[in-house]
Amino acid sequence: MNQRRRLIGRRSFLFSLGSLATMSAVAMSKAAYQNQQIQALDNPNRNFIITEGFSLKERAAKKGLIYGAATRQIDLLSNASYAAAIVHNCSVLVPEWEFKWAAGNTTLRPSADRFDFSAPDWMANFAATHNQLLRGHTLVWHDSLPTWFRKTVNSHNAARLLENHIQTVVKRYAGKIHSWDVVNEAIKPEDGRYDGLRITPWLKMLGKNYIDLAFHLTAAADPDALLVYNDFGLDYDTPEQEAKRTAVLKLLEDLRDKGTPIHALGIQAHLSPGENKFNPSKLRKFLQDVASMGLKIMITEMDVADKRLPTDLKVRDRTIAGVYEDYLSTALDEQAVIAVITWGLSDRYTYVSESQPRSDRAPVRPLPLDAQMQRKLAWNAIARAFDNAPNRK
Ligand code: XIL
Repeated sequence: MNQRRRLIGRRSFLFSLGSLATMSAVAMSKAAYQNQQIQALDNPNRNFIITEGFSLKERAAKKGLIYGAATRQIDLLSNASYAAAIVHNCSVLVPEWEFKWAAGNTTLRPSADRFDFSAPDWMANFAATHNQLLRGHTLVWHDSLPTWFRKTVNSHNAARLLENHIQTVVKRYAGKIHSWDVVNEAIKPEDGRYDGLRITPWLKMLGKNYIDLAFHLTAAADPDALLVYNDFGLDYDTPEQEAKRTAVLKLLEDLRDKGTPIHALGIQAHLSPGENKFNPSKLRKFLQDVASMGLKIMITEMDVADKRLPTDLKVRDRTIAGVYEDYLSTALDEQAVIAVITWGLSDRYTYVSESQPRSDRAPVRPLPLDAQMQRKLAWNAIARAFDNAPNRK
């Protein structure tokens, strides 16, 4: 019996050794694949030469496009050169925090029956003062909800609360908003639902029709705003992102078929070179499928995370610029794409610092301007994409 036990013990030890070896081989091959990908992404001979003399908003406007950035009141107030760069480059602004229920140092909704419009009003005034369009982001999302929300909102009062929020906020800025991200990030196939919907408090309390309801309420409150469904993870050639693209298309088709007043898809485009394979034809096909429904498309939150790129600044900036130009030259080929918005303008104020920090703790460099408001190759890459884009005029 002991001999038998020893034999089984030996076998299970060898088996676990074998599976350990297999797992480390897979991990090695994934890391090796990513390193190989990263090297392939950088081309030392690639130049990002541009004709000087025009800002990003001017280059976009020449082709009937709009360019802008997400920005925050706190940063515009504290840094005059940053505010000047925002005015110089952006024809549209997206308040990064101020139109959310609660985000950063702003709380539009201090309680279930109160609104604090001081921050969004300030942002709307800044945009108007500088002749900039204004994007509203976002009315219905599972994130950036105030602490009272989960304790207060339930399936009995959720519809009234949603209606009151949308009517109050959208009516206040009616006529001042270029486009609203009415619903944000409602698709998550990993949640396992037949329709790919993300299981959020809104879905649990109101059912899947909360999306249609939100669009109808917004359209009634501001008939002139472009109404957008906004989401991320739609960019790369992976099974997960293919599943997400399929689920988003299904959602858009369902909304169109039931007559929901939706006008555009927002593609966040938070890009991460070295993590996934970019396949231009896959993205192009997705954009064509969306456009064929009669919808416009906005690139709404673009940035390029450099967490997987080498420390060397020249290599990092050149690689990031290549990612911007490759993605935008593909996206802007689709005439239904009307806007490009980066999620920030300067590396000094970027979401990527919190969402995808580098393991070497070096400051990240995901945006067109560096932390001192100087142009980087990413700026040139976006400029070239606009300069070479088909004219929409
Ligand atoms: C982010 C902001 O940039 C952060 O400052 C905040 O803490 C969380 O939200 N997708 C979205 C944006 O639609 O609203 C998120 O913005 C980034 C991901």
